[in-house]
Amino acid sequence: MVYILVETKQYNLAIFASGTGSNTKKIIEFFEASSFITIALIVSNKPEAGVLDIARANSISTLILEKERFFKGDAYEPVLKEFGIDFLVLAGFLWKIPAHLIHIYPTAIINIHPALLPDFGGKGMYGNHVHEAVINAKKDKSGITIHFVDEHYDHGKHIFQATCSVLPTDTPETLANKIHQLEHEHFPRIIEEVVLAKYNLQ
Ligand code: GAR
Repeated sequence: MVYILVETKQYNLAIFASGTGSNTKKIIEFFEASSFITIALIVSNKPEAGVLDIARANSISTLILEKERFFKGDAYEPVLKEFGIDFLVLAGFLWKIPAHLIHIYPTAIINIHPALLPDFGGKGMYGNHVHEAVINAKKDKSGITIHFVDEHYDHGKHIFQATCSVLPTDTPETLANKIHQLEHEHFPRIIEEVVLAKYNLQ
């Protein structure tokens, strides 16, 4: 009998996150058994961010960004190259991605935003600020947007949206819970679909 050994390339993902990291946790769990996607690096601008505990608990390498080097230096390109990073996922990351990285990773950076863009996006629109704004605007619907990242805040091409209802009794906290549920349900699967499509793996 002849066996043919097919070597599958591993695509290495870096997750950029500034917060508690509930999305990061779901993404790590989703790809744990993947034969072609590895979560190779967790990147944060906050040394005390909860997401770094999640990285350590899963034995994933971490990188803490310094503002000066990220925005005015090499944007950590050599470090990302050293880890063989192919694709960047922003999961609650609050800094803008420098143009340098956007050029190095064309259509290989995606972000999740906790509202239905183009509404309630832009600088300063993150986490509970978004949910407060949605409630103050008396919207009866909110949701999530997963999109490619370009040089403007919350602006790149949309990949996926899902909606949930906003009730008159909702608070920013209850709305945040609904949004997190949507994010956890869809984000890992959409990341997989985008990576499969980008590298013609399906
Ligand atoms: C998520 O809801 C994400 O959509 C939001 O931060 C939260 C991070 O939650 N991102 C933004 O607001 C970006 N503008 P997590 O730390 O539990 O994953």
